Amino acid sequence: MISQILREARRFEEVEGDQIPSELRPLFHLTPRVGWMNDPNGFSYYNGYYHLFYQYYPYMKKWGPMHWGHAITKDLLSWEFLPAALAPDTLPDSGGCFSGSAIETDDGKHLLMYTGVVKLSDLDEDKFIQAQCLAEGDGIDYVKCVDNPIIDNTNIPEGLSKYDFRDPKIWREADGTYRCVIGGCTEDHKGRILYFKSDNAYNWEFVSVLAENDGSLGTMWECPDFFELDGKYVLLTSPQDCLRTDKYNCGNIVVAMIGTFDPETGKFHKETEQLVDSGIDFYATQTLLSEDGRRIMSAWMQNWDSIVHTIRPLRWFGQMALPREIHVKDGRLFQEPVRELEKLRKNKVTAENVHVNETVKVEGISGRIIDMTVRIRPEYPNSYRKFKIRFAEDETQYTSLTYRPSENALEFDRSHSGTRRATIHTRKCHVADNNGEIKLRIIMDRFSVEVFINDGEQAMSYVIYTDQTADGISFISFGDAVIDVEKYDLSFE
Ligand code: FRU
Repeated sequence: MISQILREARRFEEVEGDQIPSELRPLFHLTPRVGWMNDPNGFSYYNGYYHLFYQYYPYMKKWGPMHWGHAITKDLLSWEFLPAALAPDTLPDSGGCFSGSAIETDDGKHLLMYTGVVKLSDLDEDKFIQAQCLAEGDGIDYVKCVDNPIIDNTNIPEGLSKYDFRDPKIWREADGTYRCVIGGCTEDHKGRILYFKSDNAYNWEFVSVLAENDGSLGTMWECPDFFELDGKYVLLTSPQDCLRTDKYNCGNIVVAMIGTFDPETGKFHKETEQLVDSGIDFYATQTLLSEDGRRIMSAWMQNWDSIVHTIRPLRWFGQMALPREIHVKDGRLFQEPVRELEKLRKNKVTAENVHVNETVKVEGISGRIIDMTVRIRPEYPNSYRKFKIRFAEDETQYTSLTYRPSENALEFDRSHSGTRRATIHTRKCHVADNNGEIKLRIIMDRFSVEVFINDGEQAMSYVIYTDQTADGISFISFGDAVIDVEKYDLSFE
């Protein structure tokens, strides 16, 4: 039986969402069917499709009582909407169905594990009691478990906050038993990741605090994910409210911790730690293991502090980042666009050994839905001071990437990219050169730019709202530089 609240959401999204013309959405990045989207949820492979759910409020382009929107895809690029899967329609999730994950059970059901929240009082709107819930379904309709919540704060050690206990990520071990990690923090807001086990996915036992923080890395640790990759263990989490340090930006960020894991004690031993994406818009990652064994990462291509950066004509807000294949190499997380993207490449244009001094435009190099790789090197040692690529460019608008070899610094600037808001628009990251050369792969899809640096050693993701007619690309060097460019239009036809 589908509740009235879910039925209304489904009717609303069908009528309103299906009127949105496809040119007013990205081509291959997932947006909400209509209204608001945040975190990716339930990213899983089930019955021949990848399923990606999302934190969803269909009625406005604002966060509201959370539903789960739903889309499926075969190639991680062309998405088909399915009806909203969850709505806040039972007592344990009356305040919203917060983030969570999905898995297939032995009897072929699609099991969603999510955080049900209950608002404490209207006077203190920020307080939600949070506990973990289940819903079981067939890939379209889901029935919530009558025993919800199945994990609440009575299952966790004392001193942990019941108001910040959310975002379960479930997986199965080789022996068929279940594990999950859940984000949390102490009552005085120090991040914790909690590790649980279960034989049947319904009765859970707390095992350990998998990872903990002394308060130096943000407050609550949201959206954890934990998996083995390339012989190491990786813990992904999104700490809230970070203070600026030498290593990290302030605000909400995603970090990857790489190390070893002792299954007996349930303790993770961290060896290295890094920022996952050095751009502005990237948060709340979630991964899946594909049928062919690839670890693929999705994320909300947005930043809580810049959600004011939007434009009126769009009936949706929020995009998912391009799914990325991730790897661990030398203690670092590498990420590259899923290889399926290569099938969309059309109209190849290449230019090699192009000498750049001042401004150069290359014949055939333009566009707003493109996959472009640029290699930049000096003509002779120290021959250039600064190199700029301007894209989404016309007479008044542009987005730029600037590389300064003396500092090994790459700076992104979207302040001329359709924004009318005074939030942060520039960010820098440190880039290692390879015998003087750097390699940038730039993926644009109407309303975003994702930059993959040196074969995925680093990434930077940004939303832009520049007019779609601004499709110019220029290369500008202060001094003598040489570039190779390879550019494709991206299209399904
Ligand atoms: C992260 C987050 C999650 C929570 C969800 C609510 O962006 O705050 O921790 O489950 O959003 O929409």
